[in-house]
Amino acid sequence: MDGRESRYQAFLEKLSRDHLRRDLTEVAARHARILKVGGRRYVNLASNDYLGLRFHKALIERACAWAREFGTGSGASRLVTGNLELFAGIERKVAALKNKPAALLMASGFQANAGVLKALFDKTVLGADPLVFSDRLNHASMHFGCQAAGVSQVRYRHLDAARLAELLERHAADPRPKFILTESVFSMDGDIAPIPEIATLAREHGAMLVVDDAHATGILGEGGRGLSDGADLVIGTFSKALGSFGAYVACSETVRDYLVNRCGALIYSTALPPPVLGAIDAALDLLPTLNAERKRVAGLSAHFRSKAQGLGYDTAGSSTQIVPVVAGTADAALQLSASWREAGFWATAIRPPTVPQGTSRVRCVFTAAHTPEDVDGLLEALAVSASTLAKAAST
Ligand SMILES: Cc1ncc(COP(=O)(O)O)c(C=O)c1O
Repeated sequence: MDGRESRYQAFLEKLSRDHLRRDLTEVAARHARILKVGGRRYVNLASNDYLGLRFHKALIERACAWAREFGTGSGASRLVTGNLELFAGIERKVAALKNKPAALLMASGFQANAGVLKALFDKTVLGADPLVFSDRLNHASMHFGCQAAGVSQVRYRHLDAARLAELLERHAADPRPKFILTESVFSMDGDIAPIPEIATLAREHGAMLVVDDAHATGILGEGGRGLSDGADLVIGTFSKALGSFGAYVACSETVRDYLVNRCGALIYSTALPPPVLGAIDAALDLLPTLNAERKRVAGLSAHFRSKAQGLGYDTAGSSTQIVPVVAGTADAALQLSASWREAGFWATAIRPPTVPQGTSRVRCVFTAAHTPEDVDGLLEALAVSASTLAKAAST
């Protein structure tokens, strides 16, 4: 082996020993419900396409129509010539959905968090290092943005508004600009942050509240509006319930103008391409009509959660379409997901560093494409793995 790569190889070998190595598994998907791996069919419980929109006719047709009319690429960054006539209409729809004066589309949710937070926390603009209060379990892309800005975060216990209040109180006399960062629905736990309480604290302490609404937009809240009411700035993605790709920031006109001038992730990256913009536009038009789908997903998830808990499984604080089944060690989570795969269900084992040590889990996601029979079949597989675990524990 090339000596220059031996350290990387050693790193990979240690990951394998610790059951933490990740690999890219090739999947074939022609439908929101089913995927094929190695020629075998599985019910897909691992996709964030909560409404099954990525195969929806309306999205596909508008994506194709806009590709035909406007081409397959935008040709440049939005500040050069990539700001196609298509953006303004979509941004108006996003601003209305989020009840904000303005919106700005960006390339991806990761890129939005990484780039927008770096720009917001720029101490040369703020005149001081900002004080950033963050939920402990915030998404990696939010940490990335904080790190890029050189911010050391004040982390509070997951979902704990009382603890956040204490920390804000402790820093009440600190004149530095304050921010609070949280997800609305947490991606690996499926639980919901107390946004109204946090928004009240933000107002009382003069802090700017930034909410990542990635896992609520489209699927939760009235008409799929998400759960970000009360936030000063909302970041979200079109890659989950909206069935395609790309991201948005919903905010004031001032913050939008500031980001256009200061957010490197927008300035130095090519604008989203017309087919993707077409899919986004069609999904936004469909959202208000999908109440029945949202209700069905909530029903399937609640049924699964209560039965899984009845079998003795820990589903963390989930109250949404994301239902983790916590296994503990990385190895135990891998074994659990492997046993469900044998039964024809594909759900991914989530391990550190994505989740804290000792909380490895299999993340089950329910979508509008699933049927009650899918949930019952999965519960049967769970019952088998529960009795295997119980037997292993008693020997
Ligand atoms: C909370 C949260 N924010 C941002 C992202 C990134 O979004 P995208 O997939 O559009 O890059 C994700 C998805 O993984 C997420 O879970």
